[in-house]
Order: sequence, then structure tokens, then C-alpha cells
Amino acid sequence: MTPILNTPAWKHVERHAHGLRDVHLRDLFAHDPTRFARLSVRWNDWLLDLSKQRITPDTLPLLADLWHVADVPGWIARMRAGEPINHTENRAVLHIALRNLGPDAAPIRVAGQDVMPDVLAVLDKMRKFCTAVHAGQWRGATGEPITDVVNIGIGGSDLGPRMATQALAAFRMPHLRVHYVANLDGADLATTLAGLDPRTTLFIIASKTFTTQETMQNAVSARNWLTGALGATAVGRHFVAVSTALDKVAAFGIDPDNAFAFWDWVGGRFSLWSAIGLPLALAIGFERFEALLAGARAMDEHFFTAPPLENLPALLALVELWNADFINLQTRALLPYSQSLGLLPRYLQQLEMESLGKQIDRDGKPVGCPTLPIVWGEPGTNGQHAFYQLLHQGGRALSCEFIVCRTPDYPLPGHHEKLLANCFAQSAALMKGKTEAEARAELMAAGAPAPDFLAPYKIFPGNQPSTTLLLPRLDPFTLGALIAMYEHKVFTLGVLWHLDAFDQWGVEYGKQIANSLLPMIEGKAKIEGVDSSTAGLIAACRP
Ligand code: F6P
Repeated sequence: MTPILNTPAWKHVERHAHGLRDVHLRDLFAHDPTRFARLSVRWNDWLLDLSKQRITPDTLPLLADLWHVADVPGWIARMRAGEPINHTENRAVLHIALRNLGPDAAPIRVAGQDVMPDVLAVLDKMRKFCTAVHAGQWRGATGEPITDVVNIGIGGSDLGPRMATQALAAFRMPHLRVHYVANLDGADLATTLAGLDPRTTLFIIASKTFTTQETMQNAVSARNWLTGALGATAVGRHFVAVSTALDKVAAFGIDPDNAFAFWDWVGGRFSLWSAIGLPLALAIGFERFEALLAGARAMDEHFFTAPPLENLPALLALVELWNADFINLQTRALLPYSQSLGLLPRYLQQLEMESLGKQIDRDGKPVGCPTLPIVWGEPGTNGQHAFYQLLHQGGRALSCEFIVCRTPDYPLPGHHEKLLANCFAQSAALMKGKTEAEARAELMAAGAPAPDFLAPYKIFPGNQPSTTLLLPRLDPFTLGALIAMYEHKVFTLGVLWHLDAFDQWGVEYGKQIANSLLPMIEGKAKIEGVDSSTAGLIAACRP
């Protein structure tokens, strides 16, 4: 297939970008009073404002040509048909099946087999389990009801439910606390267990493979903590598992009846909707978990049917492509003006960077252009008092993504209007900047003693592009749609760059070396076959 870089559509976008090279965003706004109306898109009661991106109304249709050239609709059809579009692992990619619910839900097949009966059976098992725990019918080995749930998992088996549990804390079930442990550093598990009572604690061991070093070590230590207090027979009432490897779950000593399955066609970072969402369902209740699935499904329908210029995931993908490949931005700051969405940047780091942090395409050739910019971020307004200085005056071009809700999830008087004002002020300041003449005039108007001396420090170059997503409110339905929107953005970029967005070979090498170093660190093997730095560090750790 012709690389997208060599197509006339790509060259057309390149020429268009060249023409915009020296144009400042403030001039684009000054020359077109309809800019916001022309470059913002609504979906239900959502508003996606792209007008502060370094684009013109001509840019998006040109980018949309790439959507067609890369045949995104064809790839959507392949995904929905259960084809193994994760080609390096020969797997289908069907997280959409996990929310394909409701009376009009069509079968979804992998190798001719409808996956929906299994999906529905696991959901039903989750529902019954949640009900039993919430009603106090599921009891620990000493007969006490469960008050604390500890999810042990990492990466995709942690970040999604952890992020969503925080995001939806306003919807939390009373009398049940949900904790998350991921890190191999014993500090994570030890500090979590310090406040807990084994008699009322339930562990969920969440691992797609049930081999991940961090999760297995934490699971063993948690089991030791429990059995040390309550004896070996207590495991049956205090451990459940979520995995695709049910044989390994049984080998660990967890009753198969207490295991919740998912399947190899669910990628780890796309697995929130599967039984990996169990801690979330426990935290917020199963009905609200279903509302999350319904929100994701609504976004699926939108993505599958809306034309690219009205399609939120498509627009986000096309603008990311534009920023990465046509105006050479190397990072994107994700700035939710929502304390509840505080973990969203971390979640999206895995979703986007593990999916698209790649350079080799589906044909084994270099993609030939930069792929995903580095994603990072912090909730506003905290970030304003930490790193925004660099965004405004650091001299590095980057893109920002603001997310804010029209109505607050914690309506304390006086807070939300100020939050909105700060959010909108930042994108305005980043866009327009402040010239030297404006800075000097301001200083003089304020009667500053040395306007010429201070003026250079008060200049803001501006022209920093940003997107603002205004959500109606943060509830389970909206959060489900939000996460699904980013999943489909990732899918679209994978197609545009002709990448397999569903494998993650880049995480393997470090694990491989760690396994070979462990016996040297434990003193069971000689320190050899490693570089002098690594050898020196290991030697310095040995007693
Ligand atoms: O670090 C790589 C990775 O495989 C992620 O893709 C995955 O989400 C995480 O590890 C955890 O894997 P598992 O669920 O198999 O424990």
C-alpha cells in the first residue's frame, strides 16, 4: 500500500501547513469573528472547541481527506467484524463488544463465534457479586461483611478502574472503600494494608496474563498478610481474580467460582469495560457501571456513523496528526480542570503512548514521520502554580488540551465559576499572548516605576494551540463516553499512521533485562555479562 506520506492528500496538507507557518493565532481570531462558530463542534450537550488550534476552516477538510485515503471506515468495519487487526499478536480488537448491550445489540463474532453470550454471562456474574458484597451477604472467613476492597493490578489492570473510581467518587457506594495497589515497591501494598482489617478486606487480583511480576508479587504478599492473620482456608472468602488465564488463577489458589473471565480480544489498556472494571462496579454500584458502559456505547455509535468533520474522536485524531506531523509539536499537555479527573492524564498516557508510541508500521517499515507526541499533564488549577510558566514563556511550542465541566460534581458556592474563569483564561492567554507594546502600555497605565526594564519580562509570545472540551457534567455516562472517545481517537491515529495500536512490544525489553539481573541482585549469580554502570550499581546494593 502507498504510504500515506506519499499521497497527494498528505502533500496537500503539507502545502497548506507551509502557508500557515508564520500566521499567529491572535491574527486568525482578529480576522474572522466567526472562527469559534466555524471551528467548534457539538455532540449532544458536549462542546469541542478547536478554534484555538493553529488551523483555519480549510484545514479540517484537508485532514479529513486523509481519513478517507487511509480508509478509516474500512478499518472500523474490520474491527467490528472481529478480524485480527492486532496483526502482530493475531488478535481481534473488540473492547466495543463489552458495551454492545441493549435490545438492539447485534452479535459480534470472532472466528465465526458470537462473543456476546460470554460477555453477558460475565456481566451477570459481576452484578451478582456486587449485589452480594453491597448487601453484606458476601462475608469474610470470620463471618464479617466486607468493608474494604483492594485491587491488585498494574497498567491496564489498574489505571482505568483507579481513574474512574476517583472520577466518580461523588457516586460512591457508602460503607465500602476501594483501594488500588500497583507498584512493585512494597511501600504501595504495605501502606495500603496498614489501615486495613484482614477480616473485612477483599482482594481482587487483576491481571490479563496472571504472570505480571508486580501483580504476582503483590498478590503473594497480600495472601501472606491474610493467611498470617486468618489461616490458609480464608483465601476462598477474601480473594477473587480477574483474568484471561483461569488456569493460572486456579494454580494461585483462587477458587474458579471466584474468577471473572475476559478474553484475548480485549487489550489491557482497553479493558475497563470488562471484569477489570469490577473494583469500579463495587465502588459505584453495578447500575452506575452499566451507565458507564452505556455512555461508551453512545460514543461508539457516534464514531461509527458521524462523518469525520462532525466526529469527535476523528477530529481529535486529525488535530493530533496535524500538530505532530505538520507543525512539529512534540508534546501535548492534558489539563483537566476537574479534580475528579486528576488521574485522566496518567490513564491516557498508557492508552495513547502504549498504543501509538511506535515507529514501525504494519508492513514492518518505518512510519516515516513523527508519531504520538508525549502526553503529560495535571489537573488545573494546580498546574498553573507549577509548570504553566514554561507553557507561557518557555519558548517551546506544544499543544494543550483543556477539559472542564459546565456543572460541578461538588457544588460548593464560589468555586466553579472561578474554576471556569481560570480554565478559559489560560487558553486565551496561551492563544493571544501579549506583545511588548501591550506589556509596556499596561505597566505605564499601572504607574510602574521602570516600564522599560520590566516590559521584556511581561511579553507572552502566545500562539500556543489548545483544544477545549466542555462537558455537561461528570457522571458515569459522560465518563464512559469520554474514555471511549479517546479509545477511538487512538484507533484512528493507528490507522492514519498505519500502525498496530494494539500491541506493546516496547515494554518487553526492560522486563527481559530485569529478569536476568534479579539473580545477580539476590546474590545467586555472579555479576557478569552487563555493562560497567549496571555492574557497579548492582555491586553497590549487595551486602
Ligand atoms: O506493561 C505492559 C502490560 O502488558 C500492559 O499492556 C498491561 O496493561 C499491563 O502490562 C498489565 O498486564 P496484565 O494485566 O497481564 O497483568
